Amino acid sequence: MKSQDIRKAYLQFFESKGHLIVPSAPIVLKDDPTLMFNNSGMAQFKEYFLGNATPKSNRITDTQKCLRVSGKHNDLEDVGFDTYHHTMFEMLGNWSFGDYFKKEALPWAWEFLTEVLKLEKDRLYVSVFEGNEAENVPFDQDAFDIWKQFVPEDRIILGNKKDNFWEMGDQGPCGPCSEIHIDLRTDAERAAVSGFSLVNADHPQVVEIWNNVFMEFNRKADGSLEKLPAQHVDTGMGFERLCMAMQGVTSNYDTDVFTPLIAKVEEITGFKYTTNEIKDVSEEQNKTNIAIRVVIDHVRAVAFAIADGQLPSNTGAGYVIRRILRRAIRYGFTFLNTKEAFIYELVGV
Ligand code: SER
Repeated sequence: MKSQDIRKAYLQFFESKGHLIVPSAPIVLKDDPTLMFNNSGMAQFKEYFLGNATPKSNRITDTQKCLRVSGKHNDLEDVGFDTYHHTMFEMLGNWSFGDYFKKEALPWAWEFLTEVLKLEKDRLYVSVFEGNEAENVPFDQDAFDIWKQFVPEDRIILGNKKDNFWEMGDQGPCGPCSEIHIDLRTDAERAAVSGFSLVNADHPQVVEIWNNVFMEFNRKADGSLEKLPAQHVDTGMGFERLCMAMQGVTSNYDTDVFTPLIAKVEEITGFKYTTNEIKDVSEEQNKTNIAIRVVIDHVRAVAFAIADGQLPSNTGAGYVIRRILRRAIRYGFTFLNTKEAFIYELVGV
């Protein structure tokens, strides 16, 4: 499936489950002092979770432009070096505002991945929150019991607060979560080493694709948790990673989300990119590949941020955008021999 069709299939699936499709919010946030950028799909819905505002529908779905380069969620230094992190990425999401909860959300996630997209079940692992005494939040028995209907127990991972308790920032709505991970290694690799041991271990081919958060708490400024007035669902699926899984490649950058940008950089610079299928590349080629990934990742972040109202500048959110742009220019200058401005030529693509 083309990336466009994958995105459409997701939105249509949740529309068929009674969700209203809404547009992505701008990537830049102007009215939330706790965040500079949308770092997740749920940020624009924060006030609904807190009970301060009422949504148009209590079931919503969308694909949100996210930027994770500041604050609690910051992936900037990894970007380019690995094959599955980005500054800007799209997060497919479905939300329940005080409506359905775990027993609908988890089976729907499974149905979408295994029946609609037909991903192989034996490549999927799921995780549930093991509980945390200090926070006074118990083991998520409900999620565990729901998953047991679909997944053998030896594919269910118990995760700690770092991996299985999702928080928007230092303050705000939060709750235990259940992630779905996919193992994209070859059959031989999977036979030799179980994917179970590689979940949450920074393996580039065993990656989280979807997070289902069960919003029940608000983290207050003093660090304490207070119960929210109602229970909600917040899910986020990494669109570029899902495309990697669906398109039979082992790098987000080898999907059709990125290959047109790679072709354009190759055309401008004369340097060639090698896909992740080609191992044993020279040190020089590896540097070229990293630089091309940096440039094509960063141009998306900068272009969308500017289009959504945040110009590069020397303070605050504008400085974050300037730093991303500067990093792209520097990698181009140093490794792709671009001595003239060229990033702007990628914006159309
Ligand atoms: N808020 C969760 C996340 O960003 C799920 O959408 O991972």
